Amino acid sequence: MKKELHISYDLLRHSDLTEEELRLEQAAIQAAQDAYAPYSKFNVGAAVLLENGEIVTGSNQENAAYPSGTCAERTALFYAGAKYPNVPVVSLIIVAFNEAGRVPFIPPCGSCRQVLMETASRFKPFKLLLAGADEVIRLDDCRSVLPFAFDKESL
Ligand code: THU
Repeated sequence: MKKELHISYDLLRHSDLTEEELRLEQAAIQAAQDAYAPYSKFNVGAAVLLENGEIVTGSNQENAAYPSGTCAERTALFYAGAKYPNVPVVSLIIVAFNEAGRVPFIPPCGSCRQVLMETASRFKPFKLLLAGADEVIRLDDCRSVLPFAFDKESL
């Protein structure tokens, strides 16, 4: 039996974003300026909106021992979890810049998808925005970027 999985998402222009989403994007852009990415020169910024209205940001933090570094999304989500352990995440936005400027589309890496998944199962599914300078992909449920995920139900 063949089965199919479908992912649905919104492909938006900035004029389609809400004020709150635009504010979150600005926070992520700001966070990307503070990335520590001397090796890849790929600066990523993530901003998390929490249910209490707080915005928590993160950037990628690299290391000469490459695997010891971490991504912007995980920096932001772990910081949110550490500072506001009981507050659900409402949305997460990601932006990135290479040496030529803003990249049109930044997909979260596999490890970050796993952490998005954990955050969703810890609280509830949240919105994910992958924001380029022109187009923005918005997924209402962040879990859709990791089909067949291993989570607490798998244990
Ligand atoms: N990076 C992120 O911060 N988020 C992602 O989802 C993709 C990759 C960072 C890790 C590394 O510092 C740089 O981008 C190049 O891979």
